[in-house]
Amino acid sequence: MHLNVNRLEFCFNCQARHGISGDTNVQGEEVKKLDVLSNDLFINMLKSSFTTCLLVSEENPTVMHVDTERRGKYVVCFDPLDGSSNIDCLVSVGSIFSIYKKSSDGEPSEKDALRPGRELVAAGYALYGSATMMVLSLGHGRGVNGFMYDPSIGEFILTDPNMRVPEKGKIYSINEGYASEWSPGLKKYIEEKKNPSKGKAYGARYVGSMVADVHRTIKYGGIFMYPATKSAPKGKLRLLYECNPMAFIVTEAGGAASNGSKPILDIEPASIHERAPCYLGSKQDVQELLSFLK
Ligand code: AHG
Ligand code: MN
Ligand code: MN
Repeated sequence: MHLNVNRLEFCFNCQARHGISGDTNVQGEEVKKLDVLSNDLFINMLKSSFTTCLLVSEENPTVMHVDTERRGKYVVCFDPLDGSSNIDCLVSVGSIFSIYKKSSDGEPSEKDALRPGRELVAAGYALYGSATMMVLSLGHGRGVNGFMYDPSIGEFILTDPNMRVPEKGKIYSINEGYASEWSPGLKKYIEEKKNPSKGKAYGARYVGSMVADVHRTIKYGGIFMYPATKSAPKGKLRLLYECNPMAFIVTEAGGAASNGSKPILDIEPASIHERAPCYLGSKQDVQELLSFLK
């Protein structure tokens, strides 16, 4: 499946594309022009690939059916533009996708997308940062590979083969502005990272674009958290096109991903836009956090 990341990257360099579109999406969030543009690109490319039968996008309230004559066997869930609050200040943004193979008989329906992340056949993200990179996993122990875009030849080059998350890191990543809403266990864990009973304190990093925060966590190690809070018991991030694909990639790269009580990939989704708390990264860091959350 060919996603036209080059075109998206070109559009990111075009000032006229920035700013608020004036709409709100299915989650009631402000939609930027680039959200609309990238969503249209994803939908058009996926439908015209003749490989998909059902699409789920963050920006569309219901599943999208592909016309019978252009149908293939794959179900794709995507966040066409992740980190849109960072667009206007030129901080890195990305795109996230996950792919299921339709396993049921008959007409494609929402049920074909409401499956645990373990059943994914592939997941990936593109990060539009100091360079453009596509990170992809086909699962089943085949690992995670990173491809950097080389604008001089217009191709993605395999620059990061077999990416592995370090067993333990030195960075924690969470929006500390919501600390008053955290559970006592999470408060204690973060306090332990800042004032450790032994060893050195962790550094803090939080971009506010999940793709950038997760990519850093894969490269440098550590832990990324978007927790359950008092006012949002399921957190903010969406299971089908944010938590699951990132959990699939991080797990394939030797890391761990949990919602606080079970692996994210084991969650049975009940609706396409449902949310889940998300704690992922280095295995030892996630295990340590879970011992505090218990
Ligand atoms: P999106 O731009 O697709 O709506 O996603 C934004 C998400 C995610 O990228 C990031 O981790 C999180 O929102 C940041 O939220 P807070 O500003 O609440 O920390
Ligand atoms: Mn997002
Ligand atoms: Mn988005």
